[in-house]
Amino acid sequence: MPHNAAAAAARLSIAPMMDWTDRHCRYLHRLLSCQTLLYTEMVTAPALVRGGAVHLLEYDVSEHPVALQLGGSDPRELAKAAKLGADAGYDEINLNVGCPSDRVQSGSFGAVLMEQPALVAECVAEMIAAVDVDVTVKCRIGVDDQNPQDVLPEFLARVIAAGCTRVSIHARKAWLQGLSPKENRDIPPLDYPLVQKMKEYFPNLHISINGGITSLDQAEAFLDSGLDGVMIGRAAYHQPSDILCQADRRIFGTGADTKPEDAVMAMIPYIEAHLVSGGRLNQITRHMLGLFAGRPGARGWRRALSEGASKPGAGPELVLDALDQLETLAARQEAV
Ligand SMILES: Cc1cc2nc3c(=O)[nH]c(=O)nc-3n(C[C@H](O)[C@H](O)[C@H](O)COP(=O)(O)O)c2cc1C
Repeated sequence: MPHNAAAAAARLSIAPMMDWTDRHCRYLHRLLSCQTLLYTEMVTAPALVRGGAVHLLEYDVSEHPVALQLGGSDPRELAKAAKLGADAGYDEINLNVGCPSDRVQSGSFGAVLMEQPALVAECVAEMIAAVDVDVTVKCRIGVDDQNPQDVLPEFLARVIAAGCTRVSIHARKAWLQGLSPKENRDIPPLDYPLVQKMKEYFPNLHISINGGITSLDQAEAFLDSGLDGVMIGRAAYHQPSDILCQADRRIFGTGADTKPEDAVMAMIPYIEAHLVSGGRLNQITRHMLGLFAGRPGARGWRRALSEGASKPGAGPELVLDALDQLETLAARQEAV
């Protein structure tokens, strides 16, 4: 993979999402788009460095280009964790400066670091010194009563000075008091124009916009407006086919569209291997529920998988049966 493959792929990326973008989810997403940049769930630097939890770095080689997201605020520990990630073959190491959860706040990392740009810059500099791959930052526009118009450019100037050349910005504040992490993804208002303004201030910084983007049309409009990348989270998880099946052609300008049916068939050997190694069907199929969202038979597909996959002994035939039913229904609807 060329050195800056992750930067090129960042025209479209799937956001890091704890418990969602695990390796099975990423394997599926990669079947739907060859080029989109995929992010891991956040892995904390202490878990890797102090806890020795290097199994958290496992991924399938097909997932490239794939970025590892780290959480932490100790520059030395983050540098060590970044090195572990780079040695494991990740194409990019990303620092989480956006996650508002309590657990993360108490460890003094995530969005609360928006208040400590000097420390973030130190973390970034140490990480860059430790690895050859791109080190990037995912941040918010501010937290609590900060004024984003002031703090965001200051924050970006600091990380740029530390050597960071690429960021993703979730275009809303995190309110660290009184909102749950889930509410913090919906309630603080989005400010897309502010993120667009950052591109004017820092034309050489690769900026991906994130937050509330639900279609490729919207993604294309942001790219046309001059932003370098678009990062999509929840919509890509819930309607992966809508976001990913046309992404290679429309966003990257190369490659053919993919079909969710083909992805399902390609998942079968992957599922079989997972079951043979002692895994459960549901660990994979839970990420496949939205594959046919908005299409005839979507509800039956979702029901068959969600009800059947956790039953003892459930195997790939459940998935094949559900696909069969969906295709029969679609053929019947076409005939009328
Ligand atoms: C279930 C879930 C888990 C998330 N976990 C992380 C995480 O580990 N690291 C992170 O930076 N952001 C995390 N996020 C935030 C997303 O990366 C993204 O910034 C946010 O969902 C807004 O984008 P969207 O509107 O396209 O979903 C998470 C979001 C969700 C829904």
